[in-house]
Amino acid sequence: MSLPLSVVMYPNNILRTACRALSKDEMLSKKTRKLSQEMVSLMYRAKGIGLAAPQVGASIRLTVIDAEDGEGARVLVNPEIVKASYKKETIEEGCLSLPGVFGMVKRPLLITVAFWDLEGKKQILKCSSPLLSRIVQHEIDHMDGVLFVDRAKRITKGKKLLAQWDRGETPLLDIPYPSTYIV
Ligand code: CO
Repeated sequence: MSLPLSVVMYPNNILRTACRALSKDEMLSKKTRKLSQEMVSLMYRAKGIGLAAPQVGASIRLTVIDAEDGEGARVLVNPEIVKASYKKETIEEGCLSLPGVFGMVKRPLLITVAFWDLEGKKQILKCSSPLLSRIVQHEIDHMDGVLFVDRAKRITKGKKLLAQWDRGETPLLDIPYPSTYIV
């Protein structure tokens, strides 16, 4: 029996490492299915709306997302943005790996993403909402070792926490997870 998954916290190196793609055999494997299910339950427990594999210590291109659009949890393997709107929007983001830190991040408003599902089939998802588009972009960044704080024009909350982490300190966290834009 393995331990239940937990969220890897900043500034762990795995969050800075580009993840490898999954092979077709791996997409279809029981191990991947189990990992996805555990990531979905962890995401819900943590009140997040997205979680990428490196955030649970797996350096692979897999993410789970629930954009609260009635579609439930989606599992995206090897996702790639194939289209992005010219129009961009700046929104406040947070991340389960940086609890308490928020910042304004500019990204394309709407995107289309290609990915593989756990049946090994390629899917094209035209993200119909700005929220879903944003989560997918945040999670793909995770799989490239990029964090929202790298893109943030301005840190709106938790500047002190971020500085403590960057100095190698382990700040005491007493912050309940808010429920939006925590991915
Ligand atoms: Co995140």
